[in-house]
Amino acid sequence: MTEGCPYAELYKPEFHRDPQRVYQRMREAHGAVVPAMLEPGVRGWLVVDYATIISWCRDSTTFSRDSRRWRDWREGLVSEDAGVLGMMEYRPNVLYADGAEHQRLRRAVTDSLGRIDSAEIADYTARVAEALVDGFCQLGEADLLDEYARLLPLLVMNRMFGFDEDSGRRFMTALAAMMDAVDAERANAEIERVVSGVIARKRKEPGDDVTSWLMEHRAGLSDEEVLQNLVLIVGAGNEPTANLIGNAMRMILTDSEFSDEISGGRMDVADAVDYVLWHDPPLIGYPVMYPVSDVPLPNGGVVPEGSPLLLGFAAANHAVADEHSPQVDGFANRAHLAFGVGPHRCPAQDLATMIATTGIQTLLRRLPGLRLAVDADELEWRTSPFSRSLTRLPVSFVPQTPTQEETPWQQSPSSPETSTSRPDDSETPARWSLSAFLAMFRRGR
Ligand code: HEM
Repeated sequence: MTEGCPYAELYKPEFHRDPQRVYQRMREAHGAVVPAMLEPGVRGWLVVDYATIISWCRDSTTFSRDSRRWRDWREGLVSEDAGVLGMMEYRPNVLYADGAEHQRLRRAVTDSLGRIDSAEIADYTARVAEALVDGFCQLGEADLLDEYARLLPLLVMNRMFGFDEDSGRRFMTALAAMMDAVDAERANAEIERVVSGVIARKRKEPGDDVTSWLMEHRAGLSDEEVLQNLVLIVGAGNEPTANLIGNAMRMILTDSEFSDEISGGRMDVADAVDYVLWHDPPLIGYPVMYPVSDVPLPNGGVVPEGSPLLLGFAAANHAVADEHSPQVDGFANRAHLAFGVGPHRCPAQDLATMIATTGIQTLLRRLPGLRLAVDADELEWRTSPFSRSLTRLPVSFVPQTPTQEETPWQQSPSSPETSTSRPDDSETPARWSLSAFLAMFRRGR
């Protein structure tokens, strides 16, 4: 971030190293809504004020979620290959819908998610977490993001959506490729192909899963709507949940006061997750809204109609926590904005916090002597303007014996664990990782 720059450069590594410093400086210069550059040549605004986010998210007359209103895009000022398009280009799903259409899709999504048996999925999450730890616990070292945090929510989603083994493996491989921008177009086409296949199968043979419940919902979603909403839900569910686990583990491993609170029993892991949602939430500038007419600002400026307005949850939370501490730092306070606010508020907050809490508890219980394997200042952040996410989280610990539980997600000999286990180590549990999936994807080209 260049000092004196008139806008926040949300794509720069300097910004990601210390976003709060940039928020603070921009807030002092501009107030509640600050001009931002999402990537070189892509302009927008970041809302950094808690009260403004709440009131604007509730005002669906002035602000739309439909990115076809994005003026620079309409006027051809955004390059076809802009990196942010993957997260901003319009899709016919609940996140981009307004008004009655949003309500119709939202009802189908919340009703279907609401039918999940929470006790069963909590039990499954715990078993998957144990099995993933089994995959690396003998080695005394791991990358907690690649080998754990990114896999846990994805495997839970596979189960919730009723993906069979082959679809689950193809979906995970394609999602890994998409996240690492290996070949986003090909990966996206593969994701759509896989989900379409699952929909076709569920049409013939419905099951007890979110896919079947979405298809049979009285809102009458077309196959295309089911497809688009499923792709959204799996993506929306996976990335932030993985990053919440990563951000929380980073805080535990780098902030001794914070970890002492947990190990000393003064803060339980669920409260620690809430603390992280206040201070280092996974979504820092997403979703995006578009004003339907020019919006005047208290500082005399104007946000023009059709400008992308990124919801700056991290900036807003932090300012409130700073101002009102210690009330806000009473750990169980859930008034943070990490899950959004208003009609689009995340419909899966309990599920997300259950997965994150279980994931963190399992690591802390299973890996004694857990510590960072690099200096804290060597950790690197991805440079997305939308999310807060480490690239890797290398750790070491005292090697442990696996619990020898069977992998809960699949037992077939042709399953990916066979391909990803170490060749010289076939007696040990499979060591899964997203990069192993990615390697398979590259080989399969
Ligand atoms: C820590 C994890 C998660 C975080 C931080 C998070 C955060 C958010 C946020 C900020 C929004 C937008 C709210 C707004 O526009 O005001 C959202 C929407 C959404 N989230 Fe989550 N989410 C998480 C996990 C999940 C999971 C596990 C699922 C589903 C399995 C999910 C499904 C959705 C859906 C479908 C929407 C769109 C709702 C709508 O537009 O009406 N999220 N989430």
